[in-house]
Amino acid sequence: MNNNLIRVGDLYKSYYDGVTELPVLKGIDLEVKKAEIVAVVGASGVGKSTLLHLLGGLDRPTDGTVLYEGDDIFALNDQELDRFRNKEIGFVFQFHYLLPELTALENVAMPGLIARQKPDVAQNRARELLDYVGLVERLEHRPSELSGGERQRVAIARALVNQPKVVLADEPTGNLDQKTSEAVHDLLWTLNAQFDQTFIIVTHNQTLAQRADRLIQLVDGQVSDQV
Ligand SMILES: Nc1ncnc2c1ncn2[C@@H]1O[C@H](COP(=O)(O)OP(=O)(O)O)[C@@H](O)[C@H]1O
Ligand SMILES: [Mg+2]
Repeated sequence: MNNNLIRVGDLYKSYYDGVTELPVLKGIDLEVKKAEIVAVVGASGVGKSTLLHLLGGLDRPTDGTVLYEGDDIFALNDQELDRFRNKEIGFVFQFHYLLPELTALENVAMPGLIARQKPDVAQNRARELLDYVGLVERLEHRPSELSGGERQRVAIARALVNQPKVVLADEPTGNLDQKTSEAVHDLLWTLNAQFDQTFIIVTHNQTLAQRADRLIQLVDGQVSDQV
């Protein structure tokens, strides 16, 4: 045994449009340890989002394995994979995808409810997390009543509500100005220090990439560089 949380082996992903095959990932190998912050960088269209989707079980690979603590998530059937994703993975996207009609508190509690936590348990945890990300005064605000940085902090709180093994973030600050981005980065590092939370972050942000424990660069469907 080693202390790898995630081990990716010879991962391939092609997309088909019915006629032609578009190979995107061409044999990715990588390992992520618990409590690491890994940044994934690479040119637009190289397959960063595709890789993140596979790591989170949102899609299945053409070939290869993704092991979490030694277990292959693609050996699971669709229903089991949905359950795994809901319980063990937190997602943060460039666009927050908060539900517009729900308050910040309700948005954060939602994955807890989907995981069948009791409503008061999910709400208490959501309140704690919103307090933690500095939004205790915004519990009842709807997304349209929040700033961009506040929305992204709500999205981060939502990603954490089920205490996932890993948070996968796809350009989480791609839509924010520099100052707000830095505040969101600080929050990720605080959560990492406080909860040993593992993060894999796709980013174009140089500051974030430099600050990560490890940098993985994708070129032509493969890992070209790991620092
Ligand atoms: N669902 C899909 N169907 C077909 N092609 C896709 C799909 N998703 C992504 N692609 C293609 O795969 C390549 C990699 O996309 P993506 O992973 O989104 O790249 P990145 O996030 O690095 O910009 C692109 O050429 C994109 O057009
Ligand atoms: Mg992308």
